[in-house]
Amino acid sequence: MNLGETSLPIPIFLAPMAGVTNAAYRRLCREQAELGCEQRPAGVFTCEMITARGITERIDKTFAMMAPDVEDPIYSVQLYGTDPLVVGKAISIACGEYGVSHIDLNFGCPVPKVTRRGGGGVLPWKLDRFAAILHAAVRAAEPFRVPVTIKTRIGIDNEHLTMFDAGRIAEQAGIAGITLHARTVDQAYSGKARWEAIAELVQDVSIPVIGNGDIWEASDAVRMMAETGCAGVSIGRGVLGRPWLFRDLASALSAGSYALPGSIDRLPGVLHSASSAQDDGVDSFPESIDRLPGVSPPHKVSSLRCGTLRGPRVLPGGRMTTGVEFGGEPRGNLPSCGEVAVMVRRHAELLVIHFGDERHAMADLRKHMAWYFKGFSLGGELRYALGLVSSLAELDDILARLDLDEEFPEKELHSPRGRQGSPRTKVAMPYNWLTSRTLDNFDLTGADLDTSGG
Ligand SMILES: Cc1cc2nc3c(=O)[nH]c(=O)nc-3n(C[C@H](O)[C@H](O)[C@H](O)COP(=O)(O)O)c2cc1C
Repeated sequence: MNLGETSLPIPIFLAPMAGVTNAAYRRLCREQAELGCEQRPAGVFTCEMITARGITERIDKTFAMMAPDVEDPIYSVQLYGTDPLVVGKAISIACGEYGVSHIDLNFGCPVPKVTRRGGGGVLPWKLDRFAAILHAAVRAAEPFRVPVTIKTRIGIDNEHLTMFDAGRIAEQAGIAGITLHARTVDQAYSGKARWEAIAELVQDVSIPVIGNGDIWEASDAVRMMAETGCAGVSIGRGVLGRPWLFRDLASALSAGSYALPGSIDRLPGVLHSASSAQDDGVDSFPESIDRLPGVSPPHKVSSLRCGTLRGPRVLPGGRMTTGVEFGGEPRGNLPSCGEVAVMVRRHAELLVIHFGDERHAMADLRKHMAWYFKGFSLGGELRYALGLVSSLAELDDILARLDLDEEFPEKELHSPRGRQGSPRTKVAMPYNWLTSRTLDNFDLTGADLDTSGG
């Protein structure tokens, strides 16, 4: 698919996730995607949601949150705002001063404190304001030739669908693509994503539709594309603790042109490809943090030979061995506990680089531990220790005590991770919000403050 003028040979998107998709995590996922294919860009890796107002008011924390993954050829930022002027101005700053090269606008947040004020997932109901934001965004991004996409839901509830109007308005405004989280706002993250809605939207609009919701394995993504005809896929919770899903998916989508060994080895910041890693049996990170001041060297884990991240293979005739889902060898490329440990170590290194100090980095890493080791038989003591880790040296000590040969727990495949929750009995909205499709006298001031998530 194309993202504006940029060709996306591998149409995969890391879904923005507040508190998760910082520069370090985006890079980890990008490295995996690049490992799985020979093309760049190997996907679009979007930062967590940033408020447009935070940019126009030049709040330090906002700029820290949108820190780039400097080697990513696409600098993708998700913005949220309810005022067209503020959104336009934020885009001018982001693209003009910070070099942002893709803007995604968030219209999917189900959080009551946001929807109660007319923001997030209930905003597309007000067609005039929704259209004004999209037009202002495209106008502001145009001088920089930066594509603008939107991310939205099916509707507020089953009686109040918004996706078709949103698609039509997006087309008219010059939006480059629309990501559909195939749930309604009242579903929040509960129940199943309704992929049939993605197929309906694909039929209804001429711009690329990116399907989102309940992709837990690379094979789910391939199936979503086949079943719905969507141009690309956006993956959120499925990559929590499993960044290698991008490797498998990039490999599957590039099958045919994928060959090992590849020039990917020579790209900066990319892990060894499968062949070279297996040849020398070493987990080598080209950009080691050993030399950073104040950072302890990765002693124990990297001295264990557990870092041969097995890449996917294309067999003669094009058959893939990317894991059980693609009909490859029985265990395919499911990582052992040791390989997961190497991934965790890499994640830790990238976080240290991102935050500039180990304490912050480890605090961020701790929330990922349960996802990484879900289903492995770690035992309570090690799990507890991982949840409290406070330095790289401590992390190495704990990782070295794991049973590194333990095989990946296959029962965890296709199992949901991260937010689930229950449906809302009622979506919080301003009084009489649903009676008209125009903004009329509603005041959205306050709807874009204090906002997080989608
Ligand atoms: C922890 C978390 C944070 C999220 N933050 C955002 C966000 O900042 N912006 C956004 O558009 N969606 C956000 N989402 C929604 C995801 O991008 C995605 O639409 C949703 O999780 C469904 O996709 P999935 O089934 O692949 O996870 C968040 C989801 C989670 C679980």
